[in-house]
Amino acid sequence: MTSLAVLPGDGIGPEVMAEVLKVHTVVGDVFGIDLAVDVLPYDADWYLTRGAAGFDAQEVRRRYRAVLLGALGDPRVPDNRHAKLIIGGLRQDLDLCVNLRPVRLRTLRHCPLRHVGAESEVDLVIVRENTEDVYVGVGGTVRSGQPEQVAMEVGVHTRRAVDRAVRAAFEIARARPRRRLTLVDKSNAMPAAGPLWQQCFRAAAAEYPEVHTDHLYVDAAAMELIRNPARFDTVVTSNLFGDILSDEAAQLAGGLGVAPSASYDPADTGFRGVFESVHGSAPDLAGTGRANPLASIMSYSLMLDRMELPAAHAAVERAIDEVLRGDLLTPDLGGTARTGEVGDEVCRAIARGKEERR
Ligand code: NAI
Ligand code: MG
Repeated sequence: MTSLAVLPGDGIGPEVMAEVLKVHTVVGDVFGIDLAVDVLPYDADWYLTRGAAGFDAQEVRRRYRAVLLGALGDPRVPDNRHAKLIIGGLRQDLDLCVNLRPVRLRTLRHCPLRHVGAESEVDLVIVRENTEDVYVGVGGTVRSGQPEQVAMEVGVHTRRAVDRAVRAAFEIARARPRRRLTLVDKSNAMPAAGPLWQQCFRAAAAEYPEVHTDHLYVDAAAMELIRNPARFDTVVTSNLFGDILSDEAAQLAGGLGVAPSASYDPADTGFRGVFESVHGSAPDLAGTGRANPLASIMSYSLMLDRMELPAAHAAVERAIDEVLRGDLLTPDLGGTARTGEVGDEVCRAIARGKEERR
């Protein structure tokens, strides 16, 4: 198992993934990392011609060390069934219970909040439970179209999944300098799920006395992210709340163009996870050369970290910092550069970093 599965996907997915592959080549050369790449065809075109046949998440885990995913979403596929099949299949069949979404402001001018005065005020990690909640697909509709129509989406929370997400969050919080973990829930309105999350959180907290803990209701957390983002270090929350809060938090550091994610099972020492930007396929940008590749490159960097390649990870992080301090940026960050120019700049910065360290 020494290779990576690359799923470019739809819309801007292939465009940003092309830049990730350029970075991968440079990282391979500079650090002597030999990780072959297999580009897999699972996207909307594949689904429209072949149907659901052929995608097997377990097979992906057996054959590859990690998955790099561009984005999935195409208006030609009803309900984006292919995206649910592929992303849902990877997350749920492979039990990738942790979704890690770091948000770090690297250059002050990319923060839209006037009252943020230093990069260090926006540096948080959201740990989102990744397999349950309303995404499980429990529920249904009766009396469709009638005035009595009922629609139900059931939020499923199991002790096993909550416990794993919470413990992963404690591990992550412990490794960060501030060692601070906030539980975000809506226990005042969710008398079933709320206590389960709180019990798991308290039980884990007793085993991590060095981690400072606190709690916020999700509505207060949404407000605090804007009012005082510096109060957040590590956040752990359920799938739906994490989905929403992480998009909000991403804006504090420059938006979806710089928001990465990692989905993994902390107990799996072979398969390291699925690494993808938070953004979708952005059909409005596809083919324009305006997509920011940095979110996908940052996701690749998270993969290097999960693969325990610290030198390569640090080099890619430094290169991204350097690029974000400069002016060669895509339009979402106020620049005029094209997708490929930003990818090339990251590659140059990695190569330059190597020369400087000689
Ligand atoms: P989106 O994330 O694709 O786009 C939202 C907005 O952000 C758009 O204005 C877009 O132009 C901008 N944006 C996104 N990525 C960008 C980038 N790299 N650089 C610059 N600007 C960027 O979300 P939207 O429009 O709601 O969904 C589009 C499609 O993507 C849908 O089919 C949706 O289901 C799918 N989707 C897929 C996801 C995934 O693959 N994990 C996640 C979210 C949406
Ligand atoms: Mg989302």
